[in-house]
Amino acid sequence: MADTKVEQLALVEARVSELPEQLQAHIQRARMLGRELSALFNADPERVDLALAGHDIYRAESDVEMLGISDLRGIVPGTLEIEQPLLLHGPLAAIWMADEGRISDKGVLDAVQHHTTFAPGLGVLAATVFLADKIDPNKIEQRPWLSKVVERVDCGDWQAAVRTYIKTVDGELRRQGVTPHPLAQEAYDYLGTA
Ligand SMILES: [Fe+2]
Ligand SMILES: [Fe+2]
Repeated sequence: MADTKVEQLALVEARVSELPEQLQAHIQRARMLGRELSALFNADPERVDLALAGHDIYRAESDVEMLGISDLRGIVPGTLEIEQPLLLHGPLAAIWMADEGRISDKGVLDAVQHHTTFAPGLGVLAATVFLADKIDPNKIEQRPWLSKVVERVDCGDWQAAVRTYIKTVDGELRRQGVTPHPLAQEAYDYLGTA
């Protein structure tokens, strides 16, 4: 019989308890925000919470470790992932959650996999996870422009909030000479027509 959500969450939380304290604190803040945003956007709070609990399981790994784990998991990184191995931490977390966390809920796994870039075709569950991760108060302190995203969140407009985030990060990355992930642009276009 499939594990219950409570059992799945317990497996994820046990793994998270091994992560560096700062990362655990970020995950806690994201989960708290996730509860608020679930109510605001009418998303399923339990599924949002499960995704947020596990989204950053690989966030503290080094680039070399991330590429090594990807190799073990059979992921062939693209040019962008080789340049920016951090892009792999969402996909790796989704694989961990499916295998070790015994989670088969595709919506939860997709939300975890794409929490860095978002992706076309994703809906309110993934958007709630995405935004709860991005508007962590500590991140707003470092990137004051995130308040624009918060304004859209407060209006309950998750599509506009995600689009504002993607567009601003796109500009920020280009100024730094970093290639934005094509999935982010595709998601931006998709949400504009959704
Ligand atoms: Fe992350
Ligand atoms: Fe995160």
